[in-house]
Amino acid sequence: MEKFIINGGKKLKGTIEVRGAKNDALVILASALLTSKPVYINRVPDIEDIKRMSELMDKLGVKVKRLSYEKYKIVANKIKSTIIDREIAKRLRASILLTAPLLARMGRVDFPHPGGCVIGERPIDVFLDGYRALGANVEYKDGVYSVSAKKLKGTKFVFGSVSVTGTEAMIMAASSAEGTTILKNCACEPEVESLADFLNNCGAKISGAGTPKIIVRGIKNLNGGDHTTIPDRIEAGSFLILGAVSGSSLKVNKCEPEHLDSLLNVLEKSGAKIKVNKSSIEVSSSGLRSVNIKTKEYPGFPTDLQAPLCVLLTQAEGQALVHETIYEGRLSWTEELKRMGASILSLDPHRIEIKGPTTLRGREIESPDIRAGMAYIVAALCAEGESIINNVYQIDRGYEKIEKRLQKIGADIKRV
Ligand code: EPZ
Repeated sequence: MEKFIINGGKKLKGTIEVRGAKNDALVILASALLTSKPVYINRVPDIEDIKRMSELMDKLGVKVKRLSYEKYKIVANKIKSTIIDREIAKRLRASILLTAPLLARMGRVDFPHPGGCVIGERPIDVFLDGYRALGANVEYKDGVYSVSAKKLKGTKFVFGSVSVTGTEAMIMAASSAEGTTILKNCACEPEVESLADFLNNCGAKISGAGTPKIIVRGIKNLNGGDHTTIPDRIEAGSFLILGAVSGSSLKVNKCEPEHLDSLLNVLEKSGAKIKVNKSSIEVSSSGLRSVNIKTKEYPGFPTDLQAPLCVLLTQAEGQALVHETIYEGRLSWTEELKRMGASILSLDPHRIEIKGPTTLRGREIESPDIRAGMAYIVAALCAEGESIINNVYQIDRGYEKIEKRLQKIGADIKRV
């Protein structure tokens, strides 16, 4: 089992580049099943979740070829199975994204409850309700959902919960349904808009993506297409937080500042100095103040940045309330942060209070999920002494060769 060994306390300096967004690349890969024509995806990050998704697609008979380091070609002209592999799906929540194109194209899909990050209850009711609304029949037996429909039919559907992958799945399913689908209470995340842009380039008729109301006019045959993934806003945000909390001077390059407004707001309130350029952001700081945060759907403060921001709050002057509104299990990782020396009071599963600044001390830690894993790296880089982070698979799921990229800006981190 690989681990990271980190010696904290070093000032970092220089430029770090952001990779393509994991959650954009994953949904575009899945959407390639909607067409029998080739789909090309540029700027695909070299991460474990992309490998698992490719393996899942391979088992369905889809040809996924890595043409060069960052470029993939997908051809789904002969789908040979509609059963999503149980073992891989247990490791990847995004496996649920494959259900929509399989249902739309093949009229059937069989799949287990998806796994992925253990951050709280992760139901799939909105997917099932959505497919039913499009005319599908849903059955559940021995741990397998079977969804089938001779033909999907356009409908009006209001999401019971604002769901990112739920919205993406309904866009995909509706894009080849008969007639028009009106979706309300949609997620507005940039990855949703990016998916709609890509599908529209392939001939789909989707309007309103990026707003709560999306209209999809179903079409018969989608073409293939070419897509470049948007920059990973969570990776960019994590690097900005790292720069601010370690009192370093960092430039985060190849990012989309527009997607980071809520974080930039918080960082500025905390006293960090931010300079926004067209596709890069510079950050530096000397002395941070506490800021209360509440996670929200986009354009609110992202739940995926809650963990690294908590590390920043341990180094800020004053008391901050962190309210995680999306997932009830997404604050439990802070127990380890407390053992590193943070002063954190748990109020209930959704809220903690952090008092700062406190000195963090290096420890041996287990990475529980992608984003908490990144937060532990940030904490270890700020801590006194050595930290060991085990279970780095969780970090490799979402961040490409993170140790190599952090070494380039002066971090003392190695993989053993
Ligand atoms: C997406 O997950 C992201 N994953 C997550 O990224 C991210 O944390 C999350 O959106 C929130 O921004 C991908 O895009 C692959 P949701 P998703 O459905 O779509 C409830 C990362 O580290 N809900 O938007 O699975 C749910 O319980 C990850 O990259 C239902 O009630 O999240 C939660 O409270 C982890 N019923 C809320 O909606 C459903 O059927 C938002 O979840 C579905 C969701």
